[in-house]
This record gives sequence, C-alpha cells and structure tokens, in this order.
Amino acid sequence: MSKINAAITGIQGYVPKDKLTNIDLEKLVDTNDEWIISRTGIKERRILKGEGLATSDIASEAVKGLLKKTNTDPLEVDLIICTTITSDMVFPATANIISDKTGLKHAWGFDLNAACSGFLFGLTVGSQFIETGKYKKVIVVGADKMSSMVDYTDRTTCIIFGDGGGAVLLEPNEDGLGIIDSIMHSDGSGRYFLHQKAGGSLKPASHETIDAREHFVFQEGKSVFKFAVINMADVSCKIMQQNNLDSDDINWLVPHQANLRIIDATAKRMGIEKSKVMINIQNYGNTTNGTIPSCLWEWEDQLKKGDNLILSAFGGGFTWGAIYLKWAYNPS
Ligand SMILES: CC(C)(COP(=O)(O)OP(=O)(O)OC[C@H]1O[C@@H](n2cnc3c(N)ncnc32)[C@H](O)[C@@H]1OP(=O)(O)O)[C@@H](O)C(=O)NCCC(=O)NCCS
Repeated sequence: MSKINAAITGIQGYVPKDKLTNIDLEKLVDTNDEWIISRTGIKERRILKGEGLATSDIASEAVKGLLKKTNTDPLEVDLIICTTITSDMVFPATANIISDKTGLKHAWGFDLNAACSGFLFGLTVGSQFIETGKYKKVIVVGADKMSSMVDYTDRTTCIIFGDGGGAVLLEPNEDGLGIIDSIMHSDGSGRYFLHQKAGGSLKPASHETIDAREHFVFQEGKSVFKFAVINMADVSCKIMQQNNLDSDDINWLVPHQANLRIIDATAKRMGIEKSKVMINIQNYGNTTNGTIPSCLWEWEDQLKKGDNLILSAFGGGFTWGAIYLKWAYNPS
C-alpha cells in the first residue's frame, strides 16, 4: 500500500475590510510612512472593527468560504485545529466557537499556540491524523485579531501587526502529493523577548497590570530580528538539504510575513529568487497565525499540481519551523 500523505485540498483566507495605513499611524505615534516601509516593508494593515467581533469571526469567515469552495459538508469534518494567540476567551477554545459558528457538529477541536509559527505547528499536528488513516477531513485555521493586544501608543509594535486569517482543508493523498516533511522547533528561553506580560496565571489581570499597560504585546525588536534572520533561514535550508532539494527545485517559498528584511534574508540564504517568494506584508502587516494561509490563498491561482513549496516561519517562544509540501491540485 502506498503511503498516505496529508494534502491541502482547499484554501480560503479572510481579512477585515477596514484599513489602517502608515499615514493613519503617523497621527497616533511619532513615526512616518518612509521609516515604516524601509524598516519593515509594511504599508497598511486590516483591522477588525465592530462590537462583539473576535478572532473566531475572522476564522469562521475563512472556514465558511473553505467549506463552500471545496463543496464540503460541515458534518464530514473530523477535526478542526485553530492556531491563534488572540483566542476569543481564555477558555473555551476558539476552535469550539468556530465549530459552532460554521456547523462543524461532528468535529472535535482545540487551539494551538505557537505564536507566529502556529499555522505550521497546526499543519504538522493535523497532518498526523490524516497520515495514520484515522481521519479523512481536517481543517487547520490560523487567525488573529492582533488589534486586540496591540498598544497604539507604542510605535515599535503598533506599526507591525494587523488582523486576518486563513483556513486549509487537509485530506489523504496516495499519489505522493501533500506534506512531505516538516521540522519544528521551540526554545522557551526566548520567551523574554516577545510576550504578553499579564493576563495569564503568572500575572492575572488587575488594576496594576492595566495601569502598567501589561496586556499589550511586549517586544524587544532587535533581539527578535536577530533570532528570526538566523533561524528562519537555517531551518529552511535544513529542510532543503534533508530532501535533496536545490533552489531550482523549489517553485515557491511561503514565508511568515513579519518583516520584509527577514523574508529577503531567508530567500537569499536559500538561493531563491524574489519572483518565487510570496509576499503580501505590504497590505496586511504581520497577522501572526494568518500570514502563511493568507499568502497561499492570494497565490492559489498560480499554484500547480506537483509544485514544490517550502513554508517557513518563526515566532514568539521562540518557535520556528519549515514544511516541505507538494501542491496537490491545479487552479480551477
Ligand atoms: C521592530 C523593528 C521593525 C525595528 O527596526 P530596527 O531597524 O531594529 O529599529 P531599532 O529598534 O534599532 O530603532 C532604530 C531607531 O528608530 C526608532 N524607531 C523605532 N520605531 C520607530 C517607528 N515606528 N518610527 C520611527 N522611528 C522608530 C528607534 O527609537 C530608534 O531610534 P534611536 O536610534 O534614536 O534610538 C525590527 O527590529 C523588527 O522587525 N524586529 C522583529 C520584529 C518581529 O518580527 N516581530 C514579530 C515576530 S513573529
């Protein structure tokens, strides 16, 4: 019997309609369009506005679109993994809320938190259930409402993040297509450089934590940058070597969209020309768990069956990883 791979058989993204441009940010903090573009590559981001709207609404839009375009009966979905750092509530899991909003009545689900590497961690976990033959349909959805934890008085972080997400359907493939290999890493000693100080069991919310603005993203940008440049490139090169791929074999690099300079450095180390790198950071900023699925969604009509893709990410924790997959279908 041939090996069962987990293949992405559909992709759908969602970004909210409201934009937050660099010019808008100039009115909030001491920054300017030119600095933001030259240091990050970002021009604008999307923000989810509206009373009662949360990460599950971004994710549910993506999942509903995915079910429709893949002609999937919601009752056939076995499992949904939601990768996010901005869960609707501390509990229950956002995956449960998405299941309720999208009619996945027979699926079980859970949230996975690996910061910006979450979507790749989620794909790696979800694919195991397909490869073992246990399940036939698994949804992995990565989404974040970063505007709910960004301090719009802190110019070093508010320029970076935006809201958005995307969902994929994983199904079995016995023709050698789908996820071929993955390398994932975590190193908790990196937690000091990128985190949310309060709101967890270490420092529950209090008047003091609010006054100290400890419920927002805290980041030591330079340390994160250094870590990212080295490790995202290292793991991407490692997965190429491990699978005997050289740069000509790779059709697309799908990098986490955190900073254009980090993406460029990774592509350069891998020897991949810019025309083969998916980049949409200029339009959305860093949507954390939403970056990689939103890229796949926007490039879907250029992807061909059999294309070799390297997906690559890093994030708070620290976490980092890469996936090598063969795209499983032609554009419709
Ligand atoms: C945050 C980041 C864009 C800052 O860029 P940088 O080139 O490292 O900039 P620095 O922090 O060295 O700051 C350089 C100067 O610009 C200033 N500056 C910082 N933010 C600014 C802003 N938004 N507008 C204008 N100036 C700014 C700094 O105060 C500093 O001024 P000084 O030299 O007078 O002290 C960059 O470090 C980065 O992208 N880090 C990684 C972040 C990341 O990827 N996070 C997500 C992880 S998944």
